[in-house]
Amino acid sequence: MPGGKTYYVTTPIYYVNDEPHIGHAYTTLACDVLARFMRLDGYDVKFLTGTDEHGQKVEKAAAAAGLEPQAFTDKISGNFRSLAKAMNFSNDDFIRTTEARHITACQAIWQAIAARKSPLGRDNIYLGKYAGWYSVRDEAFYDEGELRPGPGGTKLGPSGDEVEWVEEPSYFFRLSDWQEALLEFYEANPDAVAPNTRRNEVISFVKGGLKDLSISRTTFKWGIPVPGDEAHIMYVWLDALTNYVTAAGYPDTEGADFRTYWPADLHMVGKDILRFHTVYWPAFLMAADIAPPKRVFAHGWWTNEGQKISKSVGNVIDPFELVKTYGLDPVRYFLMREVPFGNDGDFSHRAMVHRLNGDLANDLGNLAQRVLSFIAKNGGGVVPTPGAFAQADEWAGAAAAGKLLETVRRELSQQAYNKALDAVWEVVATANRYVDEQAPWKLRKSDPARMATVLYVLCEALRRIGLILQAFMPMAMDKLLNQLALPADTRTLAAWDRALEPGTTLPAPEGIFPRYVEKDAEAG
Ligand code: MSP
Repeated sequence: MPGGKTYYVTTPIYYVNDEPHIGHAYTTLACDVLARFMRLDGYDVKFLTGTDEHGQKVEKAAAAAGLEPQAFTDKISGNFRSLAKAMNFSNDDFIRTTEARHITACQAIWQAIAARKSPLGRDNIYLGKYAGWYSVRDEAFYDEGELRPGPGGTKLGPSGDEVEWVEEPSYFFRLSDWQEALLEFYEANPDAVAPNTRRNEVISFVKGGLKDLSISRTTFKWGIPVPGDEAHIMYVWLDALTNYVTAAGYPDTEGADFRTYWPADLHMVGKDILRFHTVYWPAFLMAADIAPPKRVFAHGWWTNEGQKISKSVGNVIDPFELVKTYGLDPVRYFLMREVPFGNDGDFSHRAMVHRLNGDLANDLGNLAQRVLSFIAKNGGGVVPTPGAFAQADEWAGAAAAGKLLETVRRELSQQAYNKALDAVWEVVATANRYVDEQAPWKLRKSDPARMATVLYVLCEALRRIGLILQAFMPMAMDKLLNQLALPADTRTLAAWDRALEPGTTLPAPEGIFPRYVEKDAEAG
């Protein structure tokens, strides 16, 4: 799409043998909302997710399941596709790191890095020997100083998983030579790492000095062979990070895909994998002479009723269950609204029900319901014909809804989902107050022309609310916009100012957000 507006957004690729949980759903949802919003706003969007399938952890899990790693990953890689389906994610591509296109890209990036010199004129990749601590769970190397004692004389990494001592020949990436280049990159690109606290964290980490990074392993087999030395397989993080360029067509850097989408506009990640994405990844890319991504945003972590989520505690939140219990769009809404994006958040049944019954059923649902059923009963079931906007407050209400797009665009460009939603709900509240104040049920007798104007203003507010919220709650907003009889080709933001056609016949109104009723309350 030469000259057009494009947007490339990615999720991390998920460890293929993990059970999909709320954390995975959250990261991908945040990307989905942006992808949908940017599409509505006229961008040519590429939204990528997928599975991370190599490494020692997968090899061990395959062995435990009595399968070859390839057969094992083939068997379970569908779990994350099922999650995407259950959450109504609109990804354009799903990458598996065991695919041929990815193996080609990884070997090419290795060669591109190896072929170039570091900023200090040394080989970017050299053969050495690694001796140190490794966490198989995190697939990460740790210094002694980062460890703490675990049970039975073991040592634990920062994430609480056991580390093991590893000694083997290894290729190293000359990360230490890239310190200055990285600092210059952060300096020149103030938006490249977000939010700001994370940016500061990364800068001080890099300022503290960088050590060369072991990027190959020889003691297990499940990985991509190092070109030219097949006794080694590539470090799984170099392999995994490369997925973002694979999906853009790398190594075909002259191809349409790469030229259209790279550098990526946004890598969305959790805070635990910030260093990989904002230190190692831009260094690998610069070393291979590829531009780093424009932005990496690290979001916070969810806890469950105040407790850290972990398999051993048994409090993992299953997104499939959440959707069954509360409905898909309420779950999508809750995750994006409840927590300032970037902060940690707590999932609780109470908070979920509060949002569902409060914001959705009472505020928005009720607004739509009272306006649309009033029109069905008293307005002939058609879009009302407005008279003049006589009163200043009508202008104010309509103007607030009109400005909404600008606000939401600005907030979403900063990944401030909750603020974007706050702005929408301000308009919802203004509209609800407007209904109360204008009391169309009184105007019906006293001034039917004004009643029609008031109802029209409200329909217009609902149209604009619905247009924006399609990115967050696509199915529910489809229902809402259907009830306004809004033609499909005017459901994009290009049609923001295209007001409803008076006299259009409206379908019979139906509720959008059923209230959540507690099971015991139902029984009693
Ligand atoms: N495979 C690597 C990523 C490679 S990307 C080149 C990986 N996978 S993961 O499946 O363990 O994690 C994927 C994402 O889920 C991370 O962004 C992580 O932060 C997120 N979450 C995992 N648990 C989470 C919570 N409890 N809350 C929010 N997000 C969390 O890391």
